[in-house]
Amino acid sequence: MAVHDPVLLDEVAETLRPSPGDVVVDCTFGAGGHARRLAANLGPGGLYIAIDQDPDVEEHFDDFAASVQCETRFIRKNFADALRDLLDEGVRADALLMDLGLSSMQVDRPERGFSYSRRAPLDMRMDPDREVSAADLVATASEQDLTRWFRTYGEERFAKQIARAVVRRRELAPIVSTCELVEIVRSAVPAAAQFAGGHPAKRVFQALRIVVNDELGLLPGALAHAFALLAPGGRMSVISFHSLEDKAVKRFMQEATAGCICPPGMPVCGCGRNAAAELLNKRAVMPHAGEIHRNPRAKSARMRSLRRREGE
Ligand SMILES: C[S@@+](CC[C@H](N)C(=O)[O-])C[C@H]1O[C@@H](n2cnc3c(N)ncnc32)[C@H](O)[C@@H]1O
Repeated sequence: MAVHDPVLLDEVAETLRPSPGDVVVDCTFGAGGHARRLAANLGPGGLYIAIDQDPDVEEHFDDFAASVQCETRFIRKNFADALRDLLDEGVRADALLMDLGLSSMQVDRPERGFSYSRRAPLDMRMDPDREVSAADLVATASEQDLTRWFRTYGEERFAKQIARAVVRRRELAPIVSTCELVEIVRSAVPAAAQFAGGHPAKRVFQALRIVVNDELGLLPGALAHAFALLAPGGRMSVISFHSLEDKAVKRFMQEATAGCICPPGMPVCGCGRNAAAELLNKRAVMPHAGEIHRNPRAKSARMRSLRRREGE
């Protein structure tokens, strides 16, 4: 199984630039590809805090911890909860990374149920302690909700037809495997459309994964906690892979870096608001063609970064 290839690795390292003795918070440790680069310069006085909700990540963390000089700590939790705990402990981060979405290990491990090309239980939970799996959602969600998820989170043109096919099929027997769902999608999508835009079940799997793991619901709160955790001058980068995630990140960063909000034409500022942070890149940073060629999974990556102002 391929180990996860970290996306925008040089760009992340150049943006976050941790110094010896810094505290780095990695909200999405995965296989630790970014971690190895970011921790390289921390030295024995530094601290690398790794968060991930997937228990399979712990073996990668153990290898990482044994290979670096800095202190390390692993928190096996959803990053929204872990960041709140760190805030309560009074931790302050000099650099913070969120590399959203799935790792290659999760996609490539058939038993996790993320892959439409492997036969497996329809699971898709990044954290196996979560109560609701993809099979549970497909068994219980209304046709309207399924349609909305497939359309909004999957940008699936045939959302309505697929949702209807799911509801009809589950009346006959429960849908419990990835292959059954793939067959249902194929049966609902016109033949001509099956060969355009990648695998016909790709968008439906993406939509269900986002709902199962509440990926978009958790993001705004987690971004706010992440920002609150930054030390003055601290930097934060967020890599997203879905347009709705990127929209949420962009909105959050625009708000954090907005200064005076008085209506245009006011002779003097009445709001007294100073920007709490500055954007480190005007536009989202995207992988260059060479990276996409080497690692096609990087294609939709967008990185946005900010730096908390000193004294804020
Ligand atoms: C794209 S991978 C990160 C790869 C990592 N940067 C590397 O270089 O190997 C995303 C990781 O974040 C984890 N993850 C995603 N959402 C999470 C959340 N809300 N809380 C905690 N971990 C999360 C996943 O389990 C996965 O291991």
